[in-house]
Order: sequence, then C-alpha cells, then structure tokens
Amino acid sequence: MEKDSANEIDNLPGVGPATAEKLRESGLTELMDIAVISPQELTDLADLGLTTASKIIQEARKMVNKDDFKTGKELFEKRQDIGKISCGSNTLNELLGGGFESQSIIELFGEFGSGKTQIAHQLCVMVQLPKEQGGLESHAFYIDTENTFRPERIIQMSEARDLDPDEVLSKIHVARAYNSSHQMLLLDKVKELSKEVSGRLLIVDSLTAHFRAEYIGRGALADRQQKLNRHMHELLRWSDLNNGVVCVTNQVAAKPDAFFGDPTRPIGGHIVGHTATFRVYLRKSKGPKRIARLIDSPHLPEGEAVFTITKEGIND
Ligand code: GTP
Ligand code: MG
Repeated sequence: MEKDSANEIDNLPGVGPATAEKLRESGLTELMDIAVISPQELTDLADLGLTTASKIIQEARKMVNKDDFKTGKELFEKRQDIGKISCGSNTLNELLGGGFESQSIIELFGEFGSGKTQIAHQLCVMVQLPKEQGGLESHAFYIDTENTFRPERIIQMSEARDLDPDEVLSKIHVARAYNSSHQMLLLDKVKELSKEVSGRLLIVDSLTAHFRAEYIGRGALADRQQKLNRHMHELLRWSDLNNGVVCVTNQVAAKPDAFFGDPTRPIGGHIVGHTATFRVYLRKSKGPKRIARLIDSPHLPEGEAVFTITKEGIND
C-alpha cells in the first residue's frame, strides 16, 4: 500500500521525476501528504510556482478521494482488527475500554511529574508482550523531544516482568527531536522504518513542547496550529496504516479551569483535542498515586482511574 502510493506521486499529472524527488526530499512521500497541504506551503517546501503547486494538489486530491467513502460494514470489519496495549494498570486499562487502542491517538496531558513519560516507557515494554499478556508482539518507536527517555527505566520495568532487558531495549527505536521541524521529519523516518520492522506503538513525548517554545505570541498562533494540525493528521494516518497505537504527551498547568478561558493553554488546545481519539488528564495524588481522567471519547463514558508509579513501573 505504502509502495503503491509512493509510485503514485510519480504518476501525478504535472509531476516529473525531478519534482517527484523534490517532493520526497521535503518529506511529502505519500499522496495524502500532498492532498492536505496548502498551495503556499507546497510552494515554499518544494520550490514550485503557485499555479503548479495548486494543480498538483488538485490532482493528488482527486486520487485520494477515490476511497473517501467506506461502507459501515467495511469500517466495522476494520475495527475488528483493533489491538490493545496494556499500560500495566488494570484500572487505567478499563477506563480506556481495555487498554491503549490501535488505529487511534491517545493524548496524555497533565502537569510535570503526573506520569506521562512513565506511562510512555511502560507502553514500550508492554507492546512487545504476546497478546494474552497485553501486548501486540511488536516494536516501539519513541520520538523524544525533551531528552527524558531513560533506558535504565526500561531495564527496571523489564526485570520486574522477568523479560530480558537487552532484548526489550533492542526493540525500542528512539530518536531525539531537536525542534518542531525535526520532530515532523522524524515521523517520516518512522514511516520508512515501519516498512522494515513491525512497530505498532509510536510515542511522541512531548507532542507540544517544541511548538510551544518556537511559536510565541498571538501572531504565531495560527501558524503553530496549522503545523500541529498537520502533524496530528500524519500521526493518525500512521496509526491507520500500521494498525498502531499513537500515544502523545502534552504538559499543562495544574489548574484545569484555566484551560477553557485561554485557547493558548493547553498548547494546541482544540486542534490536538479534536484530533486525539482519547484524551486522558493525569494529576498527582498522594505519594506514588496518580489519578487519570478520561476527557473525550467517541464511545466510552467519562470516568477516573487511580494508578501508581513505582520502581517496577505502572501498576494499580
Ligand atoms: P513532565 O514531562 O515534566 O511534564 O512530567 P511527566 O508527566 O512526564 O512525569 P513523569 O512521567 O516523568 O513522572 C515522574 C514521576 O514518576 C516522578 O516524580 C516519580 O514520582 C515517578 N518516578 C519516575 N521514575 C521513578 C522510579 O524509578 N521509581 C519510582 N518509585 N518512581 C518513579
Ligand atoms: Mg515527561
């Protein structure tokens, strides 16, 4: 499927071999990438005239629109393939309807120390387990924007489950993202790697930190939201193509009522919120206890779960 769509870029009317190469170099490797971009953005990225860019986008849209509509039956069949990753805590799994679901994006948001990164680490271990033990028997990808991925923590979590830490570590592919453009570029790398290894978990920790730091002030807001929107849709597309779980983190200040007045916090606000399939708000409680609250879900009731963070990892 991926391969076909890569060839289709060469077959786009108005796209010669040189332009196709330019598109690929700009990270536009699939028809969908081109179909959803704006003409101005394409002009800037691939160094094309505005008219040519508009025409290419139109052609790409025509080609992807072919399978816009699916029957309810087809969608139902696709949902039968959904896999779930256990996060180590049964109560949190239950809150999410049985675990972290594939074909979706789960956003973990909360203040510092609320457990976002710890859950992300735990998922990287759990995804490797067989299905009966809450895994998907596959590799994990980790885009680390804050330099908080710790192999030592993976070793502790693996040992707590009698797993070989070396083997577990060898199936986690970590890349450090230095800025928001790099972060988006790394997603293209993940798409490439996904053709070589079966990876069904993609962590972006943190989704928003670079965007927050780089796009400052009212004037930059629209630009930031547009980039974040595109990033989110590419993540969703990866989860769709690979039947994988995307888990992203988003730091917010502790006072929840501050979210609603000012759209700049939590960062990405409505854009991230509407694209994420599940939003889980995490807050600290006593000692190792943390409280998770399910915020929006297409088919699950809102509720709360208490879990703990210990040396062994995430637990009830
Ligand atoms: P930010 O990235 O700063 O927004 O926070 P976060 O939500 O990612 O927090 P993180 O998941 O890093 O949680 C950090 C907390 O987990 C610490 O304050 C500890 O309470 C706990 N923790 C982390 N590592 C260990 C460990 O090895 N043992 C134990 N017992 N607790 C740990
Ligand atoms: Mg963190």
